[in-house]
Amino acid sequence: MFSSEGPRRKNIVCVVGTRPEAIKTAPIVRALREQPWARCRLVFTAQHRDLAGPIFDLFGIHPDVDLNVMRPGQSLPDLSNRLLVAVHETLQRERPDCVIAQGDTTTVLAAALASYMIGAPFAHVEAGLRTHRLDAPFPEEANRVAASHLASIHFAPTPDARDNLLREGIAPEAIHLTGNTGIDALHFAAERESPLGVGPRPGARFVLVTVHRRENLGEPLRRICEGVRRLHDRHPDLEFLWPVHPNPGVEPVVRGEFEGLGRVHLVRPLEYGPFVTAMKRAAVILSDSGGVQEEATELRTPVLVLREISEREEAVRSGVARLVGHDPDAIEREGSRCLADGPDPVRPALLGSATPFGDGRAAARIASILHRKLHVESEATVGV
Ligand code: UD1
Ligand code: UDP
Repeated sequence: MFSSEGPRRKNIVCVVGTRPEAIKTAPIVRALREQPWARCRLVFTAQHRDLAGPIFDLFGIHPDVDLNVMRPGQSLPDLSNRLLVAVHETLQRERPDCVIAQGDTTTVLAAALASYMIGAPFAHVEAGLRTHRLDAPFPEEANRVAASHLASIHFAPTPDARDNLLREGIAPEAIHLTGNTGIDALHFAAERESPLGVGPRPGARFVLVTVHRRENLGEPLRRICEGVRRLHDRHPDLEFLWPVHPNPGVEPVVRGEFEGLGRVHLVRPLEYGPFVTAMKRAAVILSDSGGVQEEATELRTPVLVLREISEREEAVRSGVARLVGHDPDAIEREGSRCLADGPDPVRPALLGSATPFGDGRAAARIASILHRKLHVESEATVGV
């Protein structure tokens, strides 16, 4: 119908900075690169220089532009400043018909603001997640609220997220319920079955731990470590696999607490494939991550959420996730309860039930909605 080199192809720029954005945007880039009407460019800000790279290899997508912004121990103002200038300059050069970014990091806020500044439509993926508390998660709640009010297309992963957007006055026709592209990515990785390669003895029961949130740095992280230590001391057969985030506010604290303990395996962040294997095999997950709550729910691995409040209430309602904050008593009590329930306490009850975060086809939906909005409707408007 039209040439893949033809002038009517729409120029779509996906902006990605951190590990979760790489994972959740990869299925969209793959879907858009199959579309003859679209020219999809991937801009990597490298907010996460090390953590995101291997994900591009796994999904076979490679950035067209690398902005190389990461600095060790980057402060929010410095990171925000460098990101906004770099993304803005790039978008001016790329002249996109639409800019896409996923989630709530500083890269996403910069992409939304820079799109606004050059007058390009901004499409927000995973739109509408809210805790309704600007301090938790920090600064992500502020980033996603701002992104919603700068976006003209909103891809909401769940009905809860769509309802949040409607309550904030976003026009219903601008909101599209798609499911979460993280579930697409999870299926992609799970089908490839990567070996774990590090950590627990084969067959050992283990707890998988991840911590990185800024509001958990300092005293909360020390309390989380105390809870992990109590679980360790109470269950002499139990092992721990902790891929330690490279943030200088995380790594020295965790290594200082646990280095040398034989049953606690402190490892570098795992590549996504092995991490999915670890989530599948873990008896329990302890995590303050957003994406891990969704993935654990999909895999039916019980997850204790190291946060006081979650924007993924669907995970809590499903029974897979429990909020424990950074209270050592709650971590020990709820962790022990999950372990006492048996190797897979929640999984049998949930098998076969609908999963709240998506069906693995979110990226295809997004591509088809963009086709309609950017190609079909705009061609109709200009009478072509
Ligand atoms: C960032 C996001 C957070 C998201 C998380 C996903 C912001 C403010 N925070 O948090 O929303 O949930 O990513 O993981 O956008 N570092 C490395 N190599 C890397 C990545 C990080 O060394 O590949 C170290 C650097 O010292 C860096 C520090 O970690 O300065 C913090 O990185 P940053 O992106 O600012 O914050 P995160 O806590 O990773
Ligand atoms: N993840 C990974 N390796 C790890 C830890 C996490 O690949 O060692 C993946 C995880 O499966 C999820 C994503 O990283 O898809 C979550 O990233 P993170 O917790 O850093 O960010 P958040 O989701 O909280 O924004």
